[in-house]
Amino acid sequence: MSARKYDRRLGIKTVGLREWDDHQHYNRYEATPYEALDKLFEAYRFREANHVVDFGCGRGRVAFYIHHRFQVPVTGIEAHDKTYEEALDNKASYRHKVKHIQAPIRLKYGLAEHYKVKPTDNCFYFFNPFSHKVFKKVVGNIMESVNRNTRPVDIILYYPLPEYKRVLKRHTPFRMINKVKVPGAVDAREKFLIYRLPKDYLKVNSQGEG
Ligand SMILES: C[S@@+](CC[C@H](N)C(=O)[O-])C[C@H]1O[C@@H](n2cnc3c(N)ncnc32)[C@H](O)[C@@H]1O
Repeated sequence: MSARKYDRRLGIKTVGLREWDDHQHYNRYEATPYEALDKLFEAYRFREANHVVDFGCGRGRVAFYIHHRFQVPVTGIEAHDKTYEEALDNKASYRHKVKHIQAPIRLKYGLAEHYKVKPTDNCFYFFNPFSHKVFKKVVGNIMESVNRNTRPVDIILYYPLPEYKRVLKRHTPFRMINKVKVPGAVDAREKFLIYRLPKDYLKVNSQGEG
């Protein structure tokens, strides 16, 4: 099915690109392909009480897809004003079409690196929204939140850049637990990497709490 057709099903418009006028650290808008999301969620299942955050949500494709398919709360954060406006328009038309799902969808305008990670947030999605320097900051915020409120947490990377992998390997306890390839991909980077905090880390950390 074409992306436009998929969009129409959800009542949203997410096809296309948008470049930043001039930004060293922030990357352009481009949505994760729907077929790739279909493949990811054949392999990755949400646990109960999952709350997903899409850092750099763009027009919201991933947020609406997950919300629609799994009916879990989703937060999208977007820093480009026009793109954010488009995400809000999408939310209005999506909500008009999909009325029965109780879980909230929150779209926030602002920088991912300024987002205060909530104790309920536990699955973080990145499709190369920014430089690895900004990524390191955002992951640092996730770790601070986990150290305040110990909980199982996953990070999903789409089209993972080596710099992102390096940040997770060298600066965090996250470990890769799965790789999901996109069928027919010409580019070897067209895949998802799923990272999780090891049980041992959570155990030691929770003993230090309270
Ligand atoms: C490659 S797109 C991914 C869109 C969406 N996550 C998806 O997979 O369909 C990256 C998005 O991140 C946004 N972005 C870049 N830097 C950002 C920042 N510092 N804070 C929030 N959003 C940012 C861009 O404007 C763009 O819309």
